Amino acid sequence: MEFKRLSNNLYDDINNTTNKRRRANRKEILEKKKAIGEVIKVALAEKDPLSSFPAFRCYRRENLSVYFESGRGDELSFHLKNYIQNLLKVNMEGPYGFEWPVEEKVKRREMVACEARYIFVYEALNANACKSSSRLERSFTNCRADRRPLVGFVHYRFVIEEELPVLYVYELQLESRVQGKGLGKFLMQLIELIAQKNQMGAVLLTVQKANLGAMNFYVNNLRYLVSTISPSRVDPSIGIQKSYEILCKTFDHEANAILAEENVGSKLSNI
Ligand SMILES: CC(C)(COP(=O)(O)OP(=O)(O)OC[C@H]1O[C@@H](n2cnc3c(N)ncnc32)[C@H](O)[C@@H]1OP(=O)(O)O)[C@@H](O)C(=O)NCCC(=O)NCCS
Repeated sequence: MEFKRLSNNLYDDINNTTNKRRRANRKEILEKKKAIGEVIKVALAEKDPLSSFPAFRCYRRENLSVYFESGRGDELSFHLKNYIQNLLKVNMEGPYGFEWPVEEKVKRREMVACEARYIFVYEALNANACKSSSRLERSFTNCRADRRPLVGFVHYRFVIEEELPVLYVYELQLESRVQGKGLGKFLMQLIELIAQKNQMGAVLLTVQKANLGAMNFYVNNLRYLVSTISPSRVDPSIGIQKSYEILCKTFDHEANAILAEENVGSKLSNI
């Protein structure tokens, strides 16, 4: 009888400890989720993510002089929507091939989402425009916003991926006349700074396998890795049927362990 009571007590103690541990774990998970949600909320609330990086407000090289402005998906003018759609078609119809008609519709919806954040790239009208932002503003005061010459854009979002806050690059699109002049690399450096300033664990992006130029740019030049969440690493037999890879650059140990886990599979050998 005594033994039974003792063993019952022991059983209750173990049960209580396990329940306490479970509750503590649940609390920890909920707190972590809440903290990540807060990080995303703060990042989304920032009006002009570029304002923290004055040295990255413009880019000049030889015969190219451009400056950058922030934008949001739910505040795009008719002109900007048209511009984005046209440039996407010019640059991406080829790499997407037969998937383009469906993809074009998806991209039209994504373009105007309220979480969509943009960096618009405008050609500077005079050589001094890059010297200071105040001069830059003055040089455009008489210029109607929708007449300024755009040469490209970045569409990015602050999202949660694998329970981590990440910056996802939805689009990086430059007109052919400004490609190959270091602008894409500069914009990705800016994106990585924005990600880190906003406590994102990584930058993620999707690239079509057929887009060899972009794949080469990200993997060989910018040292992006094929993410663990890319179909080819989740399951190679599925990955082979997919037309894209998900690439990443991580900024902390946790993100690296979850999204990159550098190994043979994370590096593409055939480009
Ligand atoms: C891909 C893209 C963003 C790259 O930007 P970019 O300004 O042309 O590239 P950069 O001039 O900054 O190039 C940086 C480096 O990458 C290399 N690189 C860039 N594009 C390349 C290409 N198509 N093939 C091979 N290497 C390339 C450059 O040689 C350069 O190397 P270096 O630093 O040793 O000189 C741009 O070409 C583009 O908008 N392409 C069309 C749209 C597209 O494919 N977007 C990506 C969708 S995921």
